[in-house]
Amino acid sequence: MGGIVILTGAGVSAESGLGTFRDKGGLWTRYDLTEVATPEGFARNPRLVHDFYNARRANALDSSPNAAHQALAQLTTRYTGEVLLVTQNIDDLHERAGATGVVHMHGEITRALCAVCETRWDAPRVMDPDDACPSCAARATRPDIVWFGEMPYHMDRIVTALEAADLFVAIGTSGEVYPAAGFVDIAAEAGAETLEINLEPTPAPGRFDRVLTGPAAVAVPAWVETVLAEA
Ligand code: OAD
Repeated sequence: MGGIVILTGAGVSAESGLGTFRDKGGLWTRYDLTEVATPEGFARNPRLVHDFYNARRANALDSSPNAAHQALAQLTTRYTGEVLLVTQNIDDLHERAGATGVVHMHGEITRALCAVCETRWDAPRVMDPDDACPSCAARATRPDIVWFGEMPYHMDRIVTALEAADLFVAIGTSGEVYPAAGFVDIAAEAGAETLEINLEPTPAPGRFDRVLTGPAAVAVPAWVETVLAEA
């Protein structure tokens, strides 16, 4: 079976009660991203940034995977070809649904990172700017999240998989943030078929070969069923 690369965004977790960023009422309509999601914002006011991510962590830990996460988990465990599930989401709902090998290109809300020695560990539910790094004791701990202006994680591995894929699927992402927004072009250039699954088609018609519209918790299980039936 051909290889599949899947990219998920906030829309896949929307029906689990986690807010998206750019939809009506989304996080970036309520918070200034330059204050809470950049290294400069963190340097100016670490407490504000920790408060923002403490709220995101509480929200994620108190939510449950939905039918879209569950269907994608089935795909990672039952599809006989290669599947790489890449997510821009910082929640752990793909893993809690049972998905294997999830690549978190924008980091993970459940992990902490020392800005001095780069040690990583499981984040407590509430992080504080005065927390000490368990390795070097510096008081410079941050959530292990990729902020604007920082390089997303695992890019070499993702690009290699995109170049070898037969199918690329973007699910619940607005396609506004690079480099993830450019994955469809890398995959198409290398000969893959491309599919978008979203509540509504994203702008730039024709960018994907096919578009399936609908809420992820309905559209994704239906699509996964067809893929597993053909396999
Ligand atoms: P956005 O908020 O930009 O886009 C969410 C997408 O999900 C939109 O295209 C919606 O139409 C779609 N959507 C909403 N509800 C849905 C549902 N129930 N089913 C299917 N689709 C639905 O979120 P992302 O594209 O994930 O990065 O944003 C990308 C990055 O920007 C995030 O990873 C984050 C953010 O700033 C960082 O913080 C580094």
